[in-house]
Amino acid sequence: SAEELHARIRAAKRTLGDRVVILGHFYQRDEIVQHADFLGDSFQLANAAQTVPDAEAIVFCGVHFMAETADILARPEQRVILPNLAAGCSMADMADADSVEECWEQLEALYGTESDAAGRVPVIPVTYMNSSAALKAFCGRHGGIVCTSSNAETVLEWAFERGQRVLFFPDQHLGRNTAKKLGVPLERMPMWDPRRPLGGHAGDALLDARVILWHGFCSVHKRFTVAQIEQARAEHPGVRVIVHPECPMAVVDAADEAGSTDHIRRAVAAASEPTTFAIGTEINMVNRLAAEFPQHEIFCLDPVVCPCSTMYRIHPGYLAWVLEALVRGETPNVIAVPDAVAAEARIALERMLDAKP
Ligand code: 13P
Ligand code: SF4
Repeated sequence: SAEELHARIRAAKRTLGDRVVILGHFYQRDEIVQHADFLGDSFQLANAAQTVPDAEAIVFCGVHFMAETADILARPEQRVILPNLAAGCSMADMADADSVEECWEQLEALYGTESDAAGRVPVIPVTYMNSSAALKAFCGRHGGIVCTSSNAETVLEWAFERGQRVLFFPDQHLGRNTAKKLGVPLERMPMWDPRRPLGGHAGDALLDARVILWHGFCSVHKRFTVAQIEQARAEHPGVRVIVHPECPMAVVDAADEAGSTDHIRRAVAAASEPTTFAIGTEINMVNRLAAEFPQHEIFCLDPVVCPCSTMYRIHPGYLAWVLEALVRGETPNVIAVPDAVAAEARIALERMLDAKP
Protein backbone atom coordinates (compact mmCIF):
# COMPACT_ATOMS: atom_id res chain seq x y z
CA SER A 1 0.00 0.00 0.00
CA ALA A 2 0.99 3.66 -0.30
CA GLU A 3 1.48 3.92 3.47
CA GLU A 4 3.80 0.91 3.48
CA LEU A 5 5.86 2.47 0.71
CA HIS A 6 6.22 5.73 2.64
CA ALA A 7 7.19 3.82 5.78
CA ARG A 8 9.87 1.95 3.78
CA ILE A 9 11.22 5.22 2.36
CA ARG A 10 11.35 6.81 5.81
CA ALA A 11 13.05 3.77 7.32
CA ALA A 12 15.70 3.63 4.57
CA LYS A 13 16.31 7.37 4.92
CA ARG A 14 16.75 7.00 8.67
CA THR A 15 19.31 4.24 8.18
CA LEU A 16 21.20 6.20 5.53
CA GLY A 17 21.19 9.44 7.50
CA ASP A 18 23.53 12.10 6.10
CA ARG A 19 24.98 9.68 3.56
CA VAL A 20 22.15 10.48 1.16
CA VAL A 21 20.49 13.72 0.11
CA ILE A 22 17.20 13.73 -1.81
CA LEU A 23 16.74 16.66 -4.18
CA GLY A 24 13.31 17.27 -5.69
CA HIS A 25 11.97 19.54 -8.41
CA PHE A 26 8.78 21.54 -7.79
CA TYR A 27 6.96 19.45 -10.42
CA GLN A 28 7.34 16.25 -8.45
CA ARG A 29 4.20 14.66 -7.05
CA ASP A 30 3.38 15.20 -3.37
CA GLU A 31 4.27 11.59 -2.50
CA ILE A 32 7.84 12.38 -3.52
CA VAL A 33 8.01 15.96 -2.30
CA GLN A 34 7.29 14.88 1.28
CA HIS A 35 10.57 12.92 1.31
CA ALA A 36 12.79 15.54 -0.36
CA ASP A 37 15.51 17.21 1.73
CA PHE A 38 15.58 20.13 -0.68
CA LEU A 39 13.00 21.33 -3.17
CA GLY A 40 13.73 23.88 -5.87
CA ASP A 41 13.67 25.11 -9.45
CA SER A 42 16.35 24.03 -11.92
CA PHE A 43 18.80 26.75 -10.91
CA GLN A 44 18.44 26.10 -7.20
CA LEU A 45 18.80 22.36 -7.67
CA ALA A 46 21.98 22.79 -9.73
CA ASN A 47 23.31 25.03 -7.00
CA ALA A 48 22.28 22.54 -4.32
CA ALA A 49 24.05 19.69 -6.11
CA GLN A 50 27.25 21.68 -5.90
CA THR A 51 26.87 22.53 -2.26
CA VAL A 52 25.29 19.47 -0.55
CA PRO A 53 27.45 18.70 2.42
CA ASP A 54 28.99 15.28 2.80
CA ALA A 55 26.44 13.02 1.19
CA GLU A 56 27.85 10.03 -0.68
CA ALA A 57 24.83 9.94 -2.94
CA ILE A 58 22.37 12.46 -4.34
CA VAL A 59 19.01 10.90 -5.17
CA PHE A 60 17.60 13.22 -7.79
CA CYS A 61 13.82 13.33 -8.02
CA GLY A 62 13.46 15.18 -11.29
CA VAL A 63 14.31 14.46 -14.90
CA HIS A 64 17.42 13.12 -16.64
CA PHE A 65 19.05 16.42 -17.67
CA MET A 66 18.80 17.66 -14.07
CA ALA A 67 20.50 14.53 -12.75
CA GLU A 68 23.24 14.88 -15.39
CA THR A 69 23.80 18.47 -14.28
CA ALA A 70 23.97 17.39 -10.65
CA ASP A 71 26.58 14.76 -11.56
CA ILE A 72 28.68 17.34 -13.40
CA LEU A 73 28.57 19.77 -10.47
CA ALA A 74 28.81 17.34 -7.55
CA ARG A 75 32.12 16.18 -6.15
CA PRO A 76 33.72 13.32 -8.13
CA GLU A 77 33.17 10.74 -5.39
CA GLN A 78 29.46 11.57 -5.05
CA ARG A 79 27.03 9.37 -6.99
CA VAL A 80 23.90 10.84 -8.55
CA ILE A 81 20.95 8.49 -8.76
CA LEU A 82 17.81 8.97 -10.87
CA PRO A 83 15.11 6.72 -9.35
CA ASN A 84 13.54 6.00 -12.75
CA LEU A 85 15.81 6.11 -15.79
CA ALA A 86 12.78 6.66 -18.03
CA ALA A 87 12.27 10.15 -16.56
CA GLY A 88 13.49 12.20 -19.53
CA CYS A 89 12.29 15.50 -20.98
CA SER A 90 10.78 15.64 -24.45
CA MET A 91 12.05 19.19 -24.93
CA ALA A 92 15.62 18.20 -24.14
CA ASP A 93 15.30 15.44 -26.75
CA MET A 94 14.40 18.02 -29.41
CA ALA A 95 18.01 19.17 -29.76
CA ASP A 96 20.55 16.44 -30.44
CA ALA A 97 24.26 17.15 -30.54
CA ASP A 98 24.68 16.18 -34.22
CA SER A 99 21.98 18.58 -35.43
CA VAL A 100 23.37 21.42 -33.34
CA GLU A 101 26.89 20.74 -34.70
CA GLU A 102 25.50 20.80 -38.23
CA CYS A 103 23.73 24.08 -37.57
CA TRP A 104 26.90 25.51 -36.05
CA GLU A 105 28.96 24.61 -39.13
CA GLN A 106 26.46 26.34 -41.36
CA LEU A 107 26.39 29.42 -39.18
CA GLU A 108 30.18 29.55 -39.24
CA ALA A 109 30.08 29.34 -43.02
CA LEU A 110 27.60 32.22 -43.09
CA TYR A 111 29.06 34.52 -40.43
CA GLY A 112 32.74 33.60 -40.59
CA THR A 113 34.87 33.33 -37.46
CA GLU A 114 36.17 36.90 -37.10
CA SER A 115 35.29 39.07 -34.11
CA ASP A 116 33.91 42.58 -34.72
CA ALA A 117 35.56 45.86 -33.69
CA ALA A 118 34.13 45.51 -30.17
CA GLY A 119 35.76 42.08 -29.85
CA ARG A 120 32.49 40.21 -30.08
CA VAL A 121 32.62 36.77 -31.73
CA PRO A 122 30.07 36.02 -34.50
CA VAL A 123 27.84 33.69 -32.43
CA ILE A 124 27.57 32.66 -28.79
CA PRO A 125 25.71 29.38 -28.15
CA VAL A 126 23.31 29.42 -25.20
CA THR A 127 21.62 26.23 -24.11
CA TYR A 128 18.65 26.05 -21.81
CA MET A 129 19.31 23.81 -18.84
CA ASN A 130 16.73 21.43 -20.36
CA SER A 131 19.26 19.82 -22.70
CA SER A 132 21.71 16.92 -22.73
CA ALA A 133 25.15 17.13 -21.13
CA ALA A 134 26.60 16.88 -24.65
CA LEU A 135 24.99 20.21 -25.56
CA LYS A 136 26.20 21.86 -22.38
CA ALA A 137 29.68 20.61 -23.36
CA PHE A 138 29.16 22.09 -26.83
CA CYS A 139 28.51 25.46 -25.20
CA GLY A 140 31.53 25.12 -22.92
CA ARG A 141 33.68 24.37 -25.97
CA HIS A 142 32.43 27.31 -28.02
CA GLY A 143 32.51 30.14 -25.47
CA GLY A 144 28.86 29.66 -24.58
CA ILE A 145 26.78 29.27 -21.47
CA VAL A 146 23.80 27.49 -19.93
CA CYS A 147 20.70 29.31 -18.67
CA THR A 148 17.62 28.39 -16.67
CA SER A 149 14.27 30.09 -16.78
CA SER A 150 15.25 32.10 -13.70
CA ASN A 151 18.41 33.67 -15.09
CA ALA A 152 17.75 33.67 -18.85
CA GLU A 153 17.79 37.47 -19.06
CA THR A 154 21.10 37.84 -17.23
CA VAL A 155 22.57 35.07 -19.37
CA LEU A 156 21.40 36.60 -22.67
CA GLU A 157 22.89 39.94 -21.62
CA TRP A 158 26.13 38.11 -20.83
CA ALA A 159 26.05 36.55 -24.29
CA PHE A 160 25.28 39.82 -26.10
CA GLU A 161 28.31 41.41 -24.47
CA ARG A 162 30.50 38.72 -25.99
CA GLY A 163 28.77 37.88 -29.24
CA GLN A 164 27.18 39.61 -32.19
CA ARG A 165 24.44 36.97 -32.12
CA VAL A 166 23.16 34.14 -29.99
CA LEU A 167 22.19 30.63 -31.02
CA PHE A 168 19.59 29.61 -28.42
CA PHE A 169 18.41 26.01 -27.95
CA PRO A 170 16.33 23.92 -27.43
CA ASP A 171 13.33 26.02 -26.23
CA GLN A 172 12.14 28.50 -28.83
CA HIS A 173 9.63 30.00 -26.38
CA LEU A 174 12.04 30.79 -23.55
CA GLY A 175 14.46 32.15 -26.17
CA ARG A 176 11.83 34.32 -27.83
CA ASN A 177 10.24 35.55 -24.60
CA THR A 178 13.58 36.48 -23.09
CA ALA A 179 14.99 38.16 -26.20
CA LYS A 180 11.76 40.11 -26.59
CA LYS A 181 12.03 41.32 -23.01
CA LEU A 182 15.52 42.58 -23.81
CA GLY A 183 14.16 44.54 -26.74
CA VAL A 184 15.14 42.29 -29.64
CA PRO A 185 12.54 42.73 -32.42
CA LEU A 186 10.78 39.57 -33.60
CA GLU A 187 12.14 39.85 -37.13
CA ARG A 188 15.63 39.58 -35.70
CA MET A 189 15.00 36.20 -34.08
CA PRO A 190 14.55 33.76 -36.96
CA MET A 191 14.11 30.08 -36.21
CA TRP A 192 16.71 27.64 -37.46
CA ASP A 193 15.10 25.11 -39.76
CA PRO A 194 17.11 21.89 -39.84
CA ARG A 195 15.16 20.58 -42.82
CA ARG A 196 16.26 23.47 -44.98
CA PRO A 197 19.94 23.91 -45.74
CA LEU A 198 21.52 27.33 -45.54
CA GLY A 199 20.41 28.47 -48.98
CA GLY A 200 16.80 27.74 -48.08
CA HIS A 201 16.72 30.31 -45.31
CA ALA A 202 15.73 33.82 -46.13
CA GLY A 203 19.37 34.91 -46.15
CA ASP A 204 18.69 38.43 -44.92
CA ALA A 205 16.73 37.23 -41.91
CA LEU A 206 19.66 35.13 -40.84
CA LEU A 207 22.24 37.80 -41.63
CA ASP A 208 20.33 40.31 -39.58
CA ALA A 209 19.65 37.88 -36.72
CA ARG A 210 20.34 38.79 -33.11
CA VAL A 211 19.03 35.48 -31.78
CA ILE A 212 18.71 32.28 -33.79
CA LEU A 213 16.06 30.10 -32.17
CA TRP A 214 15.89 26.32 -32.14
CA HIS A 215 12.54 24.62 -32.80
CA GLY A 216 12.13 22.91 -29.39
CA PHE A 217 9.20 23.41 -27.03
CA CYS A 218 7.65 21.96 -23.89
CA SER A 219 4.57 19.88 -24.55
CA VAL A 220 3.15 20.78 -21.12
CA HIS A 221 3.52 24.56 -21.45
CA LYS A 222 2.48 24.55 -25.10
CA ARG A 223 -1.02 23.73 -23.89
CA PHE A 224 -1.64 27.16 -22.37
CA THR A 225 -3.56 29.63 -24.52
CA VAL A 226 -4.59 33.28 -24.59
CA ALA A 227 -8.23 32.12 -24.64
CA GLN A 228 -7.71 30.45 -21.24
CA ILE A 229 -6.34 33.72 -19.87
CA GLU A 230 -9.28 35.67 -21.29
CA GLN A 231 -11.69 33.20 -19.73
CA ALA A 232 -9.94 33.41 -16.35
CA ARG A 233 -10.14 37.21 -16.46
CA ALA A 234 -13.81 37.12 -17.43
CA GLU A 235 -14.74 34.66 -14.68
CA HIS A 236 -12.47 36.01 -11.94
CA PRO A 237 -12.22 39.81 -12.06
CA GLY A 238 -8.95 40.90 -10.49
CA VAL A 239 -7.26 37.53 -11.12
CA ARG A 240 -3.45 37.55 -11.25
CA VAL A 241 -2.18 35.44 -14.12
CA ILE A 242 1.35 34.04 -13.75
CA VAL A 243 2.85 31.70 -16.33
CA HIS A 244 6.15 29.93 -16.94
CA PRO A 245 8.31 31.45 -19.73
CA GLU A 246 8.21 28.11 -21.60
CA CYS A 247 4.69 29.19 -22.64
CA PRO A 248 4.22 30.63 -26.13
CA MET A 249 4.91 34.37 -26.50
CA ALA A 250 1.26 35.39 -26.89
CA VAL A 251 0.47 33.66 -23.58
CA VAL A 252 3.37 35.32 -21.76
CA ASP A 253 2.31 38.68 -23.21
CA ALA A 254 -1.29 38.20 -22.08
CA ALA A 255 -0.27 37.15 -18.55
CA ASP A 256 0.49 39.59 -15.73
CA GLU A 257 3.91 38.07 -15.18
CA ALA A 258 6.09 35.16 -16.18
CA GLY A 259 8.85 33.39 -14.30
CA SER A 260 10.50 30.17 -13.20
CA THR A 261 8.81 27.73 -10.87
CA ASP A 262 10.50 29.39 -7.92
CA HIS A 263 9.43 32.84 -9.15
CA ILE A 264 5.82 31.62 -9.30
CA ARG A 265 6.09 30.20 -5.79
CA ARG A 266 7.56 33.36 -4.36
CA ALA A 267 4.95 35.54 -6.06
CA VAL A 268 2.16 33.53 -4.42
CA ALA A 269 3.91 33.41 -1.04
CA ALA A 270 4.47 37.18 -1.09
CA ALA A 271 0.82 38.17 -1.70
CA SER A 272 -0.38 39.73 1.55
CA GLU A 273 -4.07 40.10 0.58
CA PRO A 274 -6.27 37.13 -0.36
CA THR A 275 -5.77 36.89 -4.12
CA THR A 276 -7.02 34.80 -7.00
CA PHE A 277 -4.16 33.32 -9.01
CA ALA A 278 -4.42 31.60 -12.38
CA ILE A 279 -1.17 29.74 -12.94
CA GLY A 280 0.23 28.47 -16.23
CA THR A 281 2.54 25.67 -15.26
CA GLU A 282 2.64 21.99 -14.31
CA ILE A 283 -0.38 20.77 -12.35
CA ASN A 284 1.34 19.07 -9.41
CA MET A 285 3.00 22.32 -8.51
CA VAL A 286 -0.19 24.34 -8.93
CA ASN A 287 -2.20 21.95 -6.75
CA ARG A 288 0.48 22.04 -4.06
CA LEU A 289 0.45 25.85 -4.04
CA ALA A 290 -3.35 25.76 -3.69
CA ALA A 291 -3.09 23.43 -0.70
CA GLU A 292 -0.26 25.35 0.89
CA PHE A 293 -1.83 28.81 0.58
CA PRO A 294 -5.55 28.30 1.37
CA GLN A 295 -6.00 32.06 1.95
CA HIS A 296 -5.71 32.47 -1.85
CA GLU A 297 -7.76 30.97 -4.65
CA ILE A 298 -5.25 29.24 -6.90
CA PHE A 299 -6.07 27.30 -10.04
CA CYS A 300 -4.37 26.03 -13.17
CA LEU A 301 -5.09 27.94 -16.39
CA ASP A 302 -5.61 24.67 -18.24
CA PRO A 303 -8.91 23.13 -17.13
CA VAL A 304 -7.84 19.71 -18.43
CA VAL A 305 -5.07 18.37 -16.19
CA CYS A 306 -1.57 18.99 -17.48
CA PRO A 307 1.06 16.98 -15.64
CA CYS A 308 4.58 16.59 -16.90
CA SER A 309 4.36 12.88 -17.66
CA THR A 310 8.10 12.30 -17.31
CA MET A 311 8.44 14.10 -13.96
CA TYR A 312 5.53 11.89 -12.87
CA ARG A 313 7.60 8.78 -13.62
CA ILE A 314 9.40 9.25 -10.32
CA HIS A 315 7.02 7.11 -8.32
CA PRO A 316 7.50 6.40 -4.58
CA GLY A 317 8.01 2.75 -5.50
CA TYR A 318 11.20 3.69 -7.37
CA LEU A 319 12.34 5.96 -4.56
CA ALA A 320 11.90 3.14 -2.02
CA TRP A 321 13.74 0.75 -4.32
CA VAL A 322 16.84 2.97 -4.81
CA LEU A 323 17.04 3.93 -1.12
CA GLU A 324 16.82 0.31 0.02
CA ALA A 325 19.48 -0.63 -2.53
CA LEU A 326 21.73 2.09 -1.09
CA VAL A 327 21.17 0.64 2.37
CA ARG A 328 22.41 -2.71 1.04
CA GLY A 329 25.50 -0.99 -0.38
CA GLU A 330 24.33 -1.12 -4.01
CA THR A 331 24.14 1.92 -6.30
CA PRO A 332 21.44 1.44 -8.96
CA ASN A 333 20.48 3.95 -11.67
CA VAL A 334 23.66 6.01 -11.44
CA ILE A 335 23.81 8.94 -13.86
CA ALA A 336 27.48 9.30 -14.75
CA VAL A 337 28.43 11.82 -17.42
CA PRO A 338 31.72 10.81 -19.11
CA ASP A 339 34.64 12.88 -17.76
CA ALA A 340 35.50 14.57 -21.06
CA VAL A 341 31.91 15.72 -21.59
CA ALA A 342 31.56 16.77 -17.96
CA ALA A 343 34.72 18.88 -18.05
CA GLU A 344 33.45 20.98 -20.98
CA ALA A 345 29.88 21.13 -19.70
CA ARG A 346 31.11 22.31 -16.30
CA ILE A 347 32.64 25.41 -17.92
CA ALA A 348 29.25 26.44 -19.33
CA LEU A 349 27.44 25.53 -16.11
CA GLU A 350 29.80 27.49 -13.90
CA ARG A 351 29.29 30.54 -16.11
CA MET A 352 25.58 30.00 -15.56
CA LEU A 353 25.89 29.72 -11.78
CA ASP A 354 27.70 33.06 -11.79
CA ALA A 355 24.75 34.63 -13.63
CA LYS A 356 22.50 34.91 -10.58
CA PRO A 357 18.73 35.04 -11.18
P1 13P B 1 12.28 25.76 -13.64
O1 13P B 1 13.71 26.05 -13.86
O2 13P B 1 11.44 26.96 -13.69
O3 13P B 1 12.10 24.97 -12.39
O4 13P B 1 11.75 24.89 -14.87
C1 13P B 1 12.07 23.57 -15.09
C2 13P B 1 11.23 22.95 -16.13
O5 13P B 1 11.46 21.89 -16.63
C3 13P B 1 10.08 23.71 -16.57
O6 13P B 1 9.39 22.99 -17.48
FE1 SF4 C 1 10.56 18.95 -19.92
FE2 SF4 C 1 8.29 20.37 -20.07
FE3 SF4 C 1 8.48 18.37 -18.32
FE4 SF4 C 1 9.85 20.66 -17.95
S1 SF4 C 1 7.62 20.40 -17.93
S2 SF4 C 1 10.62 18.57 -17.71
S3 SF4 C 1 10.36 21.17 -20.10
S4 SF4 C 1 8.54 18.19 -20.59
